[in-house]
Amino acid sequence: MLSIRSARASDVQSIAQIDVETWRATYPGMLPDDLLTALDPGQRARQWSRFITHRPDDAMLAFDERERVLGFGSCGIQRETTLPYAGEIFTLYVGPDFQGQGVGRQLLLALFQRMIRGGLSSAMLWVLAANPSRFFYERVGGRRIADRQLDMGPFGVPAVAYGWPDLADAIHRQARARSRID
Ligand SMILES: CC(C)(COP(=O)(O)OP(=O)(O)OC[C@H]1O[C@@H](n2cnc3c(N)ncnc32)[C@H](O)[C@@H]1OP(=O)(O)O)[C@@H](O)C(=O)NCCC(=O)NCCS
Repeated sequence: MLSIRSARASDVQSIAQIDVETWRATYPGMLPDDLLTALDPGQRARQWSRFITHRPDDAMLAFDERERVLGFGSCGIQRETTLPYAGEIFTLYVGPDFQGQGVGRQLLLALFQRMIRGGLSSAMLWVLAANPSRFFYERVGGRRIADRQLDMGPFGVPAVAYGWPDLADAIHRQARARSRID
């Protein structure tokens, strides 16, 4: 059974492992190999540790009945103010072995709920234009709202933004979509 909760300091190694594994499984051909080779789980763990220490409620994690971490995501106030969306999904990664089983949708909805609790009623995110995962965001009701080059170190990579203007409505619609399938 899938459960979701806020991340804890003791989760950072699991999060960093999925972070690096998922980048290496997803981004070959989209990001330079050197960048993917250089990914360091220890460094990622330190970054996640800082994030979770300062913002414990803004990182959510999905785990199963054996306490295996299946995926994680993070959110907060939109980093840019150019788009009329209050919140932003910063990361959403489901481990390669656990994709396509509904974990990503549940995590995204948990992050939406978190943002609503924090007073953010709309949200957006950036995804690489070449990443087929962007069709997931369309499936869960995201509207394509902007295009730009994302800075990845010295590189510019085409990216697209998806937005949800009303998070409460998005949660409601996804609940209805799920109940039709069940
Ligand atoms: C994108 C990601 C978070 C989605 O999570 P997931 O657990 O695999 O997706 P779910 O099983 O919850 O899928 C929900 C719905 O989206 C659909 N979907 C998922 N991935 C899809 C894709 N690549 N293309 C089209 N539809 C997709 C599913 O079929 C499902 O449809 P349904 O409404 O018929 O049930 C996950 O696959 C992932 O981490 N991918 C690699 C990393 C990545 O690119 N992350 C995003 C960075 S911005």
